[in-house]
Amino acid sequence: MNNKTITVTSPLLPNLDEFHELLQKIWDSKWITNNGSFHKQLEVALAEYLKVPYVSLFTNGTLPLITALQALRINGEVITTPYSFVATTHALWWNGIKPVFVDIDLATGNLDPNKIEAAITPKTTAIMPVHVYGKPCKTKEIQDIADKYGLKVIYDAAHAFGVEVNGESILNAGDMSTLSFHATKVYNTIEGGAMVMHDEKTKKRIDYLKNFGFAGETEVVAPGINSKMDEMRSAYGLLNLKQVDAAIEARHQVAIHYREALKKVEGISYWDDMPGVKHNYSYFPIFVDAKTYGMTRDELYFKMKEHGVLGRRYFYPLICEFSTYRGLPSATKENLPNAYKMADEVICLPMHHALSDDDIQRILNEIVR
Ligand SMILES: Cc1ncc(COP(=O)(O)O)c(C=O)c1O
Repeated sequence: MNNKTITVTSPLLPNLDEFHELLQKIWDSKWITNNGSFHKQLEVALAEYLKVPYVSLFTNGTLPLITALQALRINGEVITTPYSFVATTHALWWNGIKPVFVDIDLATGNLDPNKIEAAITPKTTAIMPVHVYGKPCKTKEIQDIADKYGLKVIYDAAHAFGVEVNGESILNAGDMSTLSFHATKVYNTIEGGAMVMHDEKTKKRIDYLKNFGFAGETEVVAPGINSKMDEMRSAYGLLNLKQVDAAIEARHQVAIHYREALKKVEGISYWDDMPGVKHNYSYFPIFVDAKTYGMTRDELYFKMKEHGVLGRRYFYPLICEFSTYRGLPSATKENLPNAYKMADEVICLPMHHALSDDDIQRILNEIVR
């Protein structure tokens, strides 16, 4: 057994020779961005792989969130979760929208639909849930509330690449969903992201919006932004798509190892697979009950770190604890008891396609006593 540092994630990299061949094509064509051939191919390939009607590629996973809110002309107040990466709420702030935090469900880490209605005011225009760790939100309950109050639903599906419920993509829920293809994600294009939409008209509008609003050589139809994915990363993405299934299966095996070893450990809990769900094993969060385990989450986290095993306290602190948001009336501990509890107990264990049996054993040795 060695003692090299075990990182929480490791990027899925395409074969370098194959990437070089595609780069050669780009060099030959001299078409390096602006809706080139690899960009077009990747949009079609992703729509097919993800079982969704339309995909629009972006330079990262934050800009499609900002753009979705623009496209749907969302304003006023939006109901969202504090238990996510800051980009979710930042996207609202960048659009001048007031975030209203609603508590999560401890069984999934996702926005609790039972608590949404109480937070709706005449200014509410949309709900922005997150499929945290790739675990599907209760999309039917959320849609029922949205329909009852005439609200839009935009899913931050940054973690939910390839996740399906009863054979259907989770990305088909709501009005739009957004993905992140950041290096740390199950499927990456180094930096990158996408928006998923249901109809051709919306796809066209989003394609304008991500290119400054240009609808033709001389026509600008909206105050768009520049968030187009370039040809290098589109080519890289095509290659990674060929190996993402194998990477997800490798992650699945890691999850099986973890669960088998951790089921005996008092004071440590984790989630099992959900019935009917095709998971992507993007993260493996464990929850430390300090009283029963005999060590706090932070004590365990820093002990692991000292021994070269890097977990991540993801999502700690909560978004609502950051200076921009902590003054909001909905940011309090009283309003969000479950989110504060989860943020205090969670450690995401190292999870990626290249963890060896030795690595897994070293990680578990830190936790199993
Ligand atoms: C839930 C969530 N939303 C949005 C983002 C933003 O994605 P990106 O880093 O690609 O801009 C992330 C990424 O890290 C995320 O985890």
